[in-house]
Amino acid sequence: MTDHILIERPETHPGVLVIRFNRPDKKNAITSAMYRAMVAGLHEAGQDASIKAVAFLGTEGCFSAGNDMADFLSFAMSGSSEPPAAVDLLKVLASYGKPLVSGVDGLAIGIGTTLHMHCDMTVASTRSLFKTPFVDLALVPEAASSLLAPRMMGHQRAFALLAAGEGFSAEQAREAGLIWKVVAPEEVEMETLKLAAALAAKPAGALKIARDLVRGSTEEVLARIDAEMLHFSAQLRSAEARAAFEAFMRRGK
Ligand code: COA
Repeated sequence: MTDHILIERPETHPGVLVIRFNRPDKKNAITSAMYRAMVAGLHEAGQDASIKAVAFLGTEGCFSAGNDMADFLSFAMSGSSEPPAAVDLLKVLASYGKPLVSGVDGLAIGIGTTLHMHCDMTVASTRSLFKTPFVDLALVPEAASSLLAPRMMGHQRAFALLAAGEGFSAEQAREAGLIWKVVAPEEVEMETLKLAAALAAKPAGALKIARDLVRGSTEEVLARIDAEMLHFSAQLRSAEARAAFEAFMRRGK
């Protein structure tokens, strides 16, 4: 296991399990081990009747800089036909049976942005930045974001985010429907836990039905994750993507 993901059960907020990115020296970039730890945390919460909601949090000033670039590069060079480790997490998120909330303070890049499309309510600080530089890395949108983002925010804003790689401020993300609420940086953690605990305290049966109705077809989302991943995996192995990962690893050196 990795201590880059912390699984917490805050006593102050009963019924809530927190999955926290804890790799601040690398801007909480996500490795394969971290994806596996998150999947394990979600399974644990799913099977524990005392847990009624899951909250994703990062560290001060950073939610996550997205997939670890060194992992991308070694995947690109390995010639592996395995799907990237993120896929398991994405599928669990897309079909998860309990409310998911998230709290962002600062950077939310790549999957650090698209993860929130699977959350039911997201709080972000005023200094947050949501950005998905997929195309600049010679990659393509993932996490069913190509389906979910246009639904949330319409074609033009989804295209700006997912294809043009435009960054969204917290306020733009709220206007686009990507997140629920903008708060001061020091309030993110408490607001997120408060939201999660409030959901955890509601009648679980009714909340599950309401949630399922609002979220709609899981099959469609899972199918889009697979469809995107065919392109994503092929692009990961492309010369143009490898050049982009190498440029990142070399920068400043
Ligand atoms: N994968 C691996 N390491 C990463 C990373 C990532 N996605 N993002 C940041 N890091 C590491 C940096 O390599 C650096 O490590 P070092 O100190 O050992 O050199 C450390 O985190 C701090 O990052 P740095 O770039 O110095 O911070 P910054 O504040 O100048 O910039 C970012 C932050 C997030 C804008 C910049 O790091 C970045 O663009 N990262 C890549 C984001 C990305 O494209 N993710 C994939 C999306 S699909």
